Formats: sequence, C-alpha cells, structure tokens
Amino acid sequence: MRPPSFLFVCLGNICRSPLAEAAFVAAAERAGVAVVADSAGTGGWHAGDPPDRRSQAVARRYGVDISGQRARLVRRADFREFDHILALDPQNLRDLHAIAPADASARIALLMDPVPGRAGQGVRDPYYGGEADFDEVWGDVSAAADALVAMLMREGG
Ligand code: 4NP
Repeated sequence: MRPPSFLFVCLGNICRSPLAEAAFVAAAERAGVAVVADSAGTGGWHAGDPPDRRSQAVARRYGVDISGQRARLVRRADFREFDHILALDPQNLRDLHAIAPADASARIALLMDPVPGRAGQGVRDPYYGGEADFDEVWGDVSAAADALVAMLMREGG
C-alpha cells in the first residue's frame, strides 16, 4: 500500500513549507512511519529556487539538510495525487480552496489545526523577519509534524 502522502503549501515555497516538509519527514523517520511528502507554493515567483538561506540555516541547526529542495507552484494534479494538502496559513488555505479542481480528492486543511491551542492559526510568514522568526517557524512546523505523525500512528499508518 502506498504510504499516506502530504503536500505542504505556503506562498513562496522557499521559507515555511520547505521547513514543514523537512520537519514532517524527520518526525516520521524518528517514529518509523512511512510517508510521502512534498511542498509547493501558491505563488510561482521562486519556482526552481532552493529554500531561502535562512530556512536552510535553521534546518541545519536542527540537523536537517533542505538544500536539495526546489520551489514549485501548486498544480491541479496535486489535488488528486496527495491524500492531504496542508496550508501554512489561512490565506494559503483560501487560495487552495479557490484553485482546487472539481475532482479534487485531497483533504485540504490548515497545518496548525492538530496542534493544541493553535487550531485555525497560521505559521507567520518570516520573509521580512530575522533568525528568531525562522526559529519560531521551525518550532511551529515541528509541533505540527509531531501531531500529524501521532495521528498517523493512532490510525495505524
Ligand atoms: P514563504 O515566504 O511563503 O514562507 O515561502 C515567502 C517567500 C517569498 C515571498 C513571500 C513569502 N515573496 O513575496 O517573494
């Protein structure tokens, strides 16, 4: 059986969603749970670019190398190919619903929803911020990753 698949979506796919993908893959590996994961953006300005160097730096501080990731735009096929599409913030969620094709099968939700006390909230865009803002993003996406993996383990994969 194909492992459950997750697509993490922010605006540019260079700051937040690469970290969400990386934290989720790391949490799943620690738990021994097989998953498929990718990330994408609702905007295409950075398509083909590696993650923002500040995201690469915070990932490296937490032991994860995301330098090989490349930004891409969300595509129509994603809505059928992924089981879950998780938006990093409420605007990303609205944009996803607006572009979802009629035959979309993916469950579309907000990344932070399963984190206690954070339902309905977004991961703040750190693009115009500094190192502390990227650290906060890592904390948020790690909490979400742990919650998602815990849900997968309860469901038996
Ligand atoms: P992200 O951050 O959505 O977390 O990747 C941003 C990256 C680029 C831009 C905005 C947000 N931008 O406007 O280029």
